[in-house]
Amino acid sequence: MTAYQQLQSRLRGERHVWLVTGVAGFIGSNLLEALLKLDQSVVGLDNFATGHQHNLDQVQGLVTPERWARFRFIKGDIRRLEDCRTACAGVDYVLHEAALGSVPRSLEDPITTNATNIDGFLNMLVAARDASVKRFVYAASSSTYGDHPGLPKVEDRIGKPLSPYAVTKLVNEQYADVFTRAYGFRTIGLRYFNIFGQRQDPNGAYAAVVPKWTAAMMAGEQVWINGDGETSRDFCYIANTVQANLLAATVTSDEATNQVYNVAVGDRTTLNDLFEAIRVLLAPRFKHLADFKPSYRDFRAGDVRHSLADVTKARTLLGYEPSHRIGEGLREAMDWYVANVGGK
Ligand SMILES: NC(=O)c1ccc[n+]([C@@H]2O[C@H](COP(=O)([O-])OP(=O)(O)OC[C@H]3O[C@@H](n4cnc5c(N)ncnc54)[C@H](O)[C@@H]3O)[C@@H](O)[C@H]2O)c1
Repeated sequence: MTAYQQLQSRLRGERHVWLVTGVAGFIGSNLLEALLKLDQSVVGLDNFATGHQHNLDQVQGLVTPERWARFRFIKGDIRRLEDCRTACAGVDYVLHEAALGSVPRSLEDPITTNATNIDGFLNMLVAARDASVKRFVYAASSSTYGDHPGLPKVEDRIGKPLSPYAVTKLVNEQYADVFTRAYGFRTIGLRYFNIFGQRQDPNGAYAAVVPKWTAAMMAGEQVWINGDGETSRDFCYIANTVQANLLAATVTSDEATNQVYNVAVGDRTTLNDLFEAIRVLLAPRFKHLADFKPSYRDFRAGDVRHSLADVTKARTLLGYEPSHRIGEGLREAMDWYVANVGGK
């Protein structure tokens, strides 16, 4: 049995109260689904800045009415300390996902990104500390590696941030560390590498590459690759991300807490390979994709060229064992997009 399988069977027998911020978003709604399916009680906080009611509605449809009744939603904003305090009351574990994602968004509007990702983060830390929660797990980011050229990325070797978004995620780690040193507050940061899967938003100017390309291909629209397509990423399926969060929240060893961890698979995929993998999966269902080709344009500002994680630390200290590599994840994700987003 893996550490995660053991944890799942333990959680089925003991109920805790979890706060998921950003619960109406992609990762938050997947955490909600997993926790309710494990019979846990969940408080959710979201202001719908980029999240959607339909994500919550979908989770409701996937769990029994008894389990759904263990979910309490608070429409609120992490930029307001009072909302954070209300949400943290009586909570055992915090999974803090609420933030404004996207490097390009942060380049266009650094002020709103800063207010949400730094002020909001600090509010959540203060509220969670004052509510004496057992653990504060937060969404950090691979963008923290910035301009460090080393590959694969190892947690303690970072460079300078390349975007306002990356600054905010670095500052999150620094605040979490200071809250440990100054107040003895227990945190774990999860540096997500490109996460993908069901309910990731395909719409809008700042959509992530997997849902954006998937929706475009299904609709027969042009797919743009920024640069030559040899830019590479460590794409990580949502099930792995959920696993990392639950392990991080409940790990008991002192050595494992007050740390940051890479959350990825350890596989390197170029954008050209990603395009082809999605096309091949969709082609049997969308005949227009039989010989569909991408279009190329300039590299995008703020993007790192290569990103690949070393996940040894999460494996060793958390017992993290990715259940899905990119191919398996894409297969599940494509089934969801075909059923929920539709095409030409
Ligand atoms: N998806 C990835 O590949 C990835 C990679 C690295 C880090 N992350 C981080 O993971 C977290 C979740 O990302 P996601 O992909 O699910 O994005 P998402 O946009 O789907 O979810 C973010 C959620 O936070 C909510 N939110 C934003 N501002 C808020 C505020 N002021 N108050 C309350 N709620 C607010 C949004 O409405 C949304 O529901 C974020 O912190 C993001 O920076 C994601």
